[in-house]
Amino acid sequence: MINVPTSPTSRRALRRTAIGGSVAAAVAAWWAFDTAPYPYAQHRLLDLPLPFLTLRRLDVMLGPRPGERLLEIGPGTGLQSLHVAPQLGSEGRLDIVDIQQPMLDHVMRRADERSIGNIVPALADAHRLPYSDASFDAAYLVTALGEIPEPTQTLSELRRVLKPGGRLVVGEFFDRHQIRPAHLIAHADSAGLAVRKLIGPPFAYYALLQPRTIPGIERRPAAVPADPS
Ligand SMILES: C[S@@+](CC[C@H](N)C(=O)[O-])C[C@H]1O[C@@H](n2cnc3c(N)ncnc32)[C@H](O)[C@@H]1O
Repeated sequence: MINVPTSPTSRRALRRTAIGGSVAAAVAAWWAFDTAPYPYAQHRLLDLPLPFLTLRRLDVMLGPRPGERLLEIGPGTGLQSLHVAPQLGSEGRLDIVDIQQPMLDHVMRRADERSIGNIVPALADAHRLPYSDASFDAAYLVTALGEIPEPTQTLSELRRVLKPGGRLVVGEFFDRHQIRPAHLIAHADSAGLAVRKLIGPPFAYYALLQPRTIPGIERRPAAVPADPS
């Protein structure tokens, strides 16, 4: 039997406990299930460099070269875009895709201020990229993949738009959206990509992925549905 407190003080304590429990449950649900993109209102935080996910390490993994066409998903305010685009030179080009127009506008404003003229923005969802097959020499996403609801679908799209032998770099940092290295390997495998190299600690790592090229195991066979009979 449950004893319901009758004094006003006990009832107030019970109500406070119930409210505290509801708030904690709501925060836990938000932490675990919220899939909203990073809010533009907090864009200033994106300009802070992240430990281990440095631009130098991105260069080492991505190896951008003059004349190449690269794709970045989720550029935010352009921390990586404004560093990578100049390395591609006037013959090269960096396409950036974001689901939020204010992020793209922010990058393009900063690019104009620095006279960087080879960035081409596209407002799109990473699950369906607006590019033809085999368009890019390389692609990258930094602290973005974990924020996108369907990482396997996104990696499949990236694989589709990469040229054969193309490079894909994923940077992930410890936050509520982070994709741990083991999960990235599994998502990549399902998308027909292989993780070639990982650098950094598991809470702040870069991974280099490439399309699998061995004939016959280009893609894993889709899971066979259970026979209902
Ligand atoms: C945490 S920010 C990372 C920004 C930047 N790469 C950095 O490290 O500073 C994630 C970015 O991914 C974008 N994004 C989230 N979901 C997306 C989706 N489905 N398609 C394209 N971009 C998406 C967000 O709008 C945001 O710009």
